[in-house]
Amino acid sequence: MKPVVVVTGAGGLIGQYLVRTAPRWAPDWEVRGLTRRDLELTQVPAVETMWETLNPHAVIHCAALSRTKDCEQDPGAARLANVLVTTHLSTLSRDVPFIFLSSGEVFDGRRGWYEEADEAVPINVYGRTKLEAERIVLGNPKHSVVRIVLTAGTSAAGDRSFVEDMCRAARAGKDVRLYADEFRCPLPAGAIARAVWDLLGAGRPGLYHLGGSDRLSRWEIGEKLLPYYPVLSGRLIRGSGRDHVGAPRPADLSLCCDKIQTLLSFRLPGFAQWLERRGSDGDPWDYPAS
Ligand SMILES: NC(=O)c1ccc[n+]([C@@H]2O[C@H](COP(=O)([O-])OP(=O)(O)OC[C@H]3O[C@@H](n4cnc5c(N)ncnc54)[C@H](OP(=O)(O)O)[C@@H]3O)[C@@H](O)[C@H]2O)c1
Repeated sequence: MKPVVVVTGAGGLIGQYLVRTAPRWAPDWEVRGLTRRDLELTQVPAVETMWETLNPHAVIHCAALSRTKDCEQDPGAARLANVLVTTHLSTLSRDVPFIFLSSGEVFDGRRGWYEEADEAVPINVYGRTKLEAERIVLGNPKHSVVRIVLTAGTSAAGDRSFVEDMCRAARAGKDVRLYADEFRCPLPAGAIARAVWDLLGAGRPGLYHLGGSDRLSRWEIGEKLLPYYPVLSGRLIRGSGRDHVGAPRPADLSLCCDKIQTLLSFRLPGFAQWLERRGSDGDPWDYPAS
């Protein structure tokens, strides 16, 4: 019998890729993906019963209130989903590896190319809840935190990744404003899934940064996507984060990923390089088998 790994948030963007790619990248594990329909994670007794039933040998925790805007609008819901649920699951999983997906939004974004040892100073509710949860998770030496930033991918609902958001807006006849002074290091969901499986296999818990190898502005990202997504043509508008209204946004969340790179079975790609090499069949954001 294979050991069981539970993936929470299995109906979300990254959870879907983890479940789908497990036979390729984690064949020694039996994966039990939990969507919200399977289990509402705020229901404490139901969660405890599920953990007793599944008795997982490892947990990858992707469920979250993941949109900055939603967190800013309802800080109580953000804390419940991102801190209290995470605390509960990590406590139930105290004796096994537990990988918590966190975010570069724990940083203020003033500097960029952040390393794991850099001081985290969040500037929005989402980042604050993620940092609070990280500290609890890392209190257990068996547990890990993986900070990611901007994920390209294709979801079942078609409304999860930033590429999907852009294309949906363009299809609805809306302009897509992209800040030329906001920097990220995007990574395809397939690469994130493969890296997380590698990390679980490596058995080296701790805090890790996981992002693409190039730092691009939002505007540059849009320009690079344009040849592959004609629907965006004529819809991209160059903007500035200085004019942003809403939840505060860190300007530069590029991440230094040297630490996780040493554990990985593949080289973390840059976004532009990924787009050039992507296959014409299947999901462009999946990691190629070879
Ligand atoms: N995607 C990114 O660019 C990015 C960047 C930085 C960090 N992250 C982090 O990476 C993780 C995965 O991100 P993602 O993009 O896959 O997020 P996502 O698409 O929003 O998926 C999160 C999933 O969690 C589920 N969920 C939330 N609260 C729940 C609850 N109380 N009970 C059961 N299920 C619940 C959601 O269900 P519903 O759909 O029903 O709400 C959703 O399916 C998150 O922790 C996120 O904060 C993602």
